[in-house]
Amino acid sequence: MKLEDIRKVGVVGAGTMGNGIAQVCAMTGYQVVMRDVTLELAERGLNTISKSLDRMTKKGAISAEEKKATLSRLQLTEKLEDLKDVDFAIEAVTENTGVKEGVFKTLDDLCRPQIVLASNTSSISITKIATFTKRPSQVIGMHFMNPVPVMKLVEIIEGLQTSKETSALVVKLSEKLGKVPVVIKDSPGFVSNRVLMPMINEAIFALYEGVGSPEAIDTIMKLGANHPMGPLSLADLIGLDTCLYILQVMYDSFGDPKYRPCPLLVKMVDAGYLGRKAGKGFYDYS
Ligand code: CAA
Repeated sequence: MKLEDIRKVGVVGAGTMGNGIAQVCAMTGYQVVMRDVTLELAERGLNTISKSLDRMTKKGAISAEEKKATLSRLQLTEKLEDLKDVDFAIEAVTENTGVKEGVFKTLDDLCRPQIVLASNTSSISITKIATFTKRPSQVIGMHFMNPVPVMKLVEIIEGLQTSKETSALVVKLSEKLGKVPVVIKDSPGFVSNRVLMPMINEAIFALYEGVGSPEAIDTIMKLGANHPMGPLSLADLIGLDTCLYILQVMYDSFGDPKYRPCPLLVKMVDAGYLGRKAGKGFYDYS
């Protein structure tokens, strides 16, 4: 498969990451089929895309015509079968191995054998995901960062069986999407979350131990380390359930206590305080 052969991209999942990925693909000129389990969820994703495009239009980054053209390239569906004729597929469903297994098995059955199946997983082994298909050399991690339309990085993760051709194609595609690809090997938490999550977890420990308020902890890291946002605000942006899941994967995979999730993080997830998407996390968004 060559970059020029890609015209239609399938995105599975219309949540925070999925709608962002669908947006950058459609802005680049690709026809996009964005699927979620219900049409209502897919429409919610489209609504977020529309707001993001409005923001760009107001700033003059894109014209009103470009916004209209981008939206016209997006097709919504609740059926995975509607991805049967896509030339490239990106999975961005919930971080749950069982759910991903179902999606990859179905995509593998539906899509042409030469198509690459990429996963936006933030922590699940790409080598493992590849085993859900009969095309392990064409399965790869394509890890976008939140907010997808703004963040430049795509962390590209080669599973043990990913071919060099697959990797080269995904590098070219990421560049075409206006991103900066960085290729690494499959390993728990990859690089981004292996480095980021212990910092977020440590900030939560500092809060748990009463060392400082959320505002104090975040301001120290913003002004003291020049981070665009503090670690607790960032955790709220990412989603506390996602942070907990990633820490748990690293803790289980490495068997190293340095990745143990802070009990406060576990408690907040239990309470449903998942961050921005829930209206409440370390801060109140209601
Ligand atoms: N769509 C389009 N544009 C957007 C946008 C969106 N969803 N969100 C923000 N923007 C644009 C704004 O319009 C603005 O553009 P200009 O600078 O051209 O005016 C720019 O982005 C900055 O936005 P704001 O001025 O509103 O706010 P800010 O300066 O505080 O930036 C931020 C917001 C980009 C989110 C910034 O705080 C930031 O970079 N935070 C860190 C984000 C980060 O670390 N992400 C990685 C998370 S980890 C992850 O995703 C991986 C994982 O597996 C967990």
